[in-house]
Amino acid sequence: MTPDYTLLDRQLEALLDTRDWLTNSAQTCAFLMQELPELNWAGFYLHRKPQTLCLGPFQGKPACHPIPFAKGVCGAAARTLTTQRIDDVHAVADHIACDAASRAELVVPIVVEDHLWGVLDLDSPVMGRFSEQDQAGIETLVGVFMTRTDLMARP
Ligand code: SME
Repeated sequence: MTPDYTLLDRQLEALLDTRDWLTNSAQTCAFLMQELPELNWAGFYLHRKPQTLCLGPFQGKPACHPIPFAKGVCGAAARTLTTQRIDDVHAVADHIACDAASRAELVVPIVVEDHLWGVLDLDSPVMGRFSEQDQAGIETLVGVFMTRTDLMARP
């Protein structure tokens, strides 16, 4: 069943009561991990070095770091600046397997004034976990994170 994303939007708005990117990104991934069923990892990769994603706040097992833009599902989101919704990561040739249990993945790029700030990455052990409705709902939640947070320009 699709969660009530309108309710989740309001809850996340209430939770993010600072403008600080570190506090808000930590709270956001903890909130998503708690509220969305069937996730095994939720976190941010940050664009802090050219053409590279650096591991940021996350919930779940220790993860891969760094990720070049050239590789994986996160790299594809960073290169194309479009959300990557993958039903079965085993079918993606250059998927980076941080956790063998991960099966489906959703990666949403976070773009501020034409600059990639980072990506939100969600993993699930359930094949086909993320529907189009989930993608739309999670993109809206990323929008809440962005409007509630001061996201400074980075290299
Ligand atoms: N699977 C990702 C790497 C990040 S982890 O899932 C946390 C990828 O292929 O980009």
